[in-house]
Amino acid sequence: MEYHNPVLLQESVDGLNIHPDGVYVDVTFGGGGHSKEILKRLGPNGKLFAFDQDEDALANALVDDRFTLINENFRFIKRFLRFYGVKSVDGILGDLGVSSHQFDVPERGFSTRFDADLDMRMSKKNELSAYKVVNEYDEANLKRVFLDYGELKNAPVLARTIVEARTQYPIKTTDELKEVLSRYLPERVKNKILAQIYQAIRIEVNQEMDVLKEFLEQSLEILKPEGRLSVISYHSLEDRLVKRFVKNGMFDGEPERDFFGNFSVPFKTIGKLIVPNANEIKENNRARSAKLRIAEKR
Ligand SMILES: C[S@@+](CC[C@H](N)C(=O)[O-])C[C@H]1O[C@@H](n2cnc3c(N)ncnc32)[C@H](O)[C@@H]1O
Repeated sequence: MEYHNPVLLQESVDGLNIHPDGVYVDVTFGGGGHSKEILKRLGPNGKLFAFDQDEDALANALVDDRFTLINENFRFIKRFLRFYGVKSVDGILGDLGVSSHQFDVPERGFSTRFDADLDMRMSKKNELSAYKVVNEYDEANLKRVFLDYGELKNAPVLARTIVEARTQYPIKTTDELKEVLSRYLPERVKNKILAQIYQAIRIEVNQEMDVLKEFLEQSLEILKPEGRLSVISYHSLEDRLVKRFVKNGMFDGEPERDFFGNFSVPFKTIGKLIVPNANEIKENNRARSAKLRIAEKR
């Protein structure tokens, strides 16, 4: 089975405005679709660093002198680039979230299609797992996860139901979790609600929102002036963070005004929000929720 079919491939790499001698970073290597396209556009002196925290992605490493794959979380982008002697870069690409491979391997526990242990870690080094979230979080914390990351209106009752069920026995597998919550999964909307529940737990397990914030802040620090940021997100929570950051250089509030009363912001947004066309969505269902934002550092 194919590891991952890259989404918005040309559009996101076009957004990097590649200089053949530049230094670029693909922070979500996966199957390497975007990395291969970046390398195609680089000259012999260009460099590409890629990150993926999932050990499985290492098998896709590209054999090319210009390429380095770093098996780490991109929340440490600045630290690991510095380790390779890189202090500033010309462009950074992020294709957020989970790869098709991660969804397709039943034991990873990401997919509602299979029964599996409650895992959902993108990296085996991650200390938090879906098991810990479901069995060890207190009710208030579970409610927060379902509300904030799943946008589930009945988050309080879902949290209460889990806490009550696990006083009898630990909830070990995804099927056991579905069974515990079965009352709240009417057939008509079952898949939609399950997708929201899984998304919420996965975001918490991998701390995806905090990681994205740390990554965006460091991107701003390491991009050269006129360096490009090209980010594809797959749900509104991610896209909201990216949108605010490229617009204002911050996640909350309004940026400061300069002496003349103009907002002083670190990025210039390039073009409008880009989404896949109908053809791409037809060929690759995973593309249906993708949103690409491109920004240039001032
Ligand atoms: C949507 S896939 C990327 C697919 C890739 N663009 C391709 O063309 O094959 C996202 C990948 O990023 C990785 N990933 C997600 N969050 C990460 C993080 N915080 N640090 C490092 N890798 C991460 C996942 O393990 C996954 O392999």
